[in-house]
Amino acid sequence: MTPSQHTHPALVDMANHPYLSGLFAPQRKDVDVTGLTVTGDLPADLVGSYLRNGPNPRFDPIGSYTFPIDGDAMVHQVDFDGSTVSYRNRFVRTPAVIAEEEVGRALWSGLFDPYFPDEDDLDGAENTGRDMPDIHVVKHGGRLLAMAEATRPYALDPADLSTIGIESCDGAMLGGSTAHPKIDPATGEMLLFNYAFEAPYLRWSVVGPDGKCTRRPTAIDGVDMPMMIHDMALTQRYVVIFVCPLKFDIIASFTTGSSPLEWLPELGTRIALVPRDGSPVKWVDADPFWVWHFANAYDTENGEVAVDYVRWNEPTHLGVETAPPIADITRTLLNPTTGRITHTKLSDSMVEFPRIDDRSLTRPHNAIASSGQLPGGHAGTDTLFFDDLTTGRQTYWDSGTVSVGEPIFMSGEAHGYWGTIGTDRVTMTSAFYVFPTDDPASGPLCSVNLPIRVPAGLHGAWMSGSPR
Ligand SMILES: [Fe+2]
Repeated sequence: MTPSQHTHPALVDMANHPYLSGLFAPQRKDVDVTGLTVTGDLPADLVGSYLRNGPNPRFDPIGSYTFPIDGDAMVHQVDFDGSTVSYRNRFVRTPAVIAEEEVGRALWSGLFDPYFPDEDDLDGAENTGRDMPDIHVVKHGGRLLAMAEATRPYALDPADLSTIGIESCDGAMLGGSTAHPKIDPATGEMLLFNYAFEAPYLRWSVVGPDGKCTRRPTAIDGVDMPMMIHDMALTQRYVVIFVCPLKFDIIASFTTGSSPLEWLPELGTRIALVPRDGSPVKWVDADPFWVWHFANAYDTENGEVAVDYVRWNEPTHLGVETAPPIADITRTLLNPTTGRITHTKLSDSMVEFPRIDDRSLTRPHNAIASSGQLPGGHAGTDTLFFDDLTTGRQTYWDSGTVSVGEPIFMSGEAHGYWGTIGTDRVTMTSAFYVFPTDDPASGPLCSVNLPIRVPAGLHGAWMSGSPR
């Protein structure tokens, strides 16, 4: 242990931290409220639950705080039964959160700080690591999972969002799993990847619709260094993994205090097409770029793979940027036989969180919704964008003073809807907005007042059917 590890870190200056103040300021209480006020027409066929995860430190952080990597997980749930709407939130109570609740303050510092809690503080939790499953929430195989790539998933009780505990999905997940596994709507399988800091650096796994692991973590040949990879895509034939040139250097980070990540554009972006039938991986080489999130992928009629995603010139948020960020929604066509690759820009709005109707995953989709910023707009995301791929037309809903999150497709019994949480920057109150899918730019059908300001966060999911 180095001397710095004995130095107790100071509290982070939350008021002046962009991801701990304002829209991002954490909430600290678990809340249950039914009979929320609805403005507009609540669709009677919309029955189910929207869930969303996000970083939300249980206590004021010490040392450093890096969004979105640091922060305990808080899951928010909005239930629709056709006539009323309810809200609930819960911390994911990992052993670290429980240990901190016992002493009433943060014990662990930022993930990248060279500091570990004093054993005297832990009182029985000495072997507890700090898991932060704060990125996404996924339901599959009878499990409801809070997930983040650098940590193990935690299973939650769907009845009340209470924490059940660490979950490996029958051994499909090792030390961690991508927070963005993909569920094939045709087979019910969940496919995922794990990355690691030592060889094998990248593996893929499959969980059957019954929750049993049907492919244990299997090495993907061709990766010879630890790479950060956030999301994946899936077709009926391939697991698609974009290995962008962002390399982990954890040892340098701990010994010199430098960034744990290196952007190495000279390596280019390499794309793995992993056949789901288990045959050898095919690699396609591309110029360097970065991807946080995919919308979807599918096999084309002429044997190519089409992938729609938000393409960035460089990673954002991670402290490795060398140029102003540029992003657009791109369709990349990959030929598994020849290695030919072509990129087509679908729209050039600065967006993120691209989502489709998840019932179309692995097959052609006709619309992408995303959140972003109009030119000259407010800081953060103030606009929902809707790309109609059948017409090539992009429309948008300018939400004015409301900052909006990731849009989710919600399937009602008769119709589909887009939905998201938004927070008004003037009143600092949050609402859930429901949009029609046939003309979403016309604005919300209704908004539901939420009982607390929901901190700006990350990914969500819609779960059809009786919510509770
Ligand atoms: Fe993500």
